[in-house]
Amino acid sequence: MLIRPAADLRENDVTDQALYLDRRRFLAGAAAAGTLLGAGRGLRAATSDDTPTPFEAVTTYNNYYEFGTAKEDPAVNAPGRLKTAPWSVAVDGECAKPGTIGLEDLIKPVKVEDRIYRLRCVEGWSMVIPWRGVQLSEVLKRFEPTSKAKFVEFTTLADREQMPGLRIPVLDWPYVEGLRLDEAMHPLTLLATGLYGKDLLAQNGAPLRLVVPWKYGFKSIKSIVRIRFTAAQPVNSWQKYNPREYGFYSNVNPEVDHPRWSQANERRIGEFRRRPTLMFNGYGDQVAGLYAGMDLKANH
Ligand code: MTE
Repeated sequence: MLIRPAADLRENDVTDQALYLDRRRFLAGAAAAGTLLGAGRGLRAATSDDTPTPFEAVTTYNNYYEFGTAKEDPAVNAPGRLKTAPWSVAVDGECAKPGTIGLEDLIKPVKVEDRIYRLRCVEGWSMVIPWRGVQLSEVLKRFEPTSKAKFVEFTTLADREQMPGLRIPVLDWPYVEGLRLDEAMHPLTLLATGLYGKDLLAQNGAPLRLVVPWKYGFKSIKSIVRIRFTAAQPVNSWQKYNPREYGFYSNVNPEVDHPRWSQANERRIGEFRRRPTLMFNGYGDQVAGLYAGMDLKANH
């Protein structure tokens, strides 16, 4: 798996973005430090195959429709417009200890980790991103979800003053996403506050976004202002937009095509040839059990 506890990750693995920008230097440095991605437990093959996507691409090729629908729009429109501090998150619904809590207090009790994950967009492209963040399960526990809580719903800020994209009703704003509670509590699920060892930039969903590496990228909702525990399955924005094309689960699955295109392969940003898409984005050994016995086509 492309996940390493913070203790295994050296400072300069994540703080020197120039190291990542220069692939050869990165590989040489990582090999010397014994920290090649392949050293991670359970990775399918030791590999320069999953070299992190350059910082430049991760921060300029984005989907954040609140700031425009072209890939370059968020990097142009979000910085300077999105006010990311102070920031607080309302946590409510089926839990014993609801409350609105400042970002710092939300994160403080939890260990901050650096984790390198593949990100596969439903559009057929992918990246490898070194995230910084906290395990979502550790954040959620303190609100004490009740036995009625079966799902978790996440909501993005929706402020017309800050987000020019809201003037266009591409989606029914605010952007909403949801997970089953056991998916949210899975150790791979991350609340990211940074990437490449730095705080998140606005275009990547600052100051707090979800990262669910075995699901299509649209599940990884940005700039979260509300987390709600629910008994009923939430309706996520893309499912509301077109239920035939976008499901609730949205697990990466090369065998279930999008109605308008194949999901069998993908273009890794920075590469020319398409590569095969992996079931559950390559995290099946860790997450397949969540879906045992389920029809993955019907529950797409
Ligand atoms: N979250 C919000 N609020 N709005 C969006 O438009 N786009 C999603 C997801 N989260 C989106 C969002 C999609 S389609 C993808 S692929 C990822 O963010 C992209 O994340 P990145 O721009 O950091 O690579």
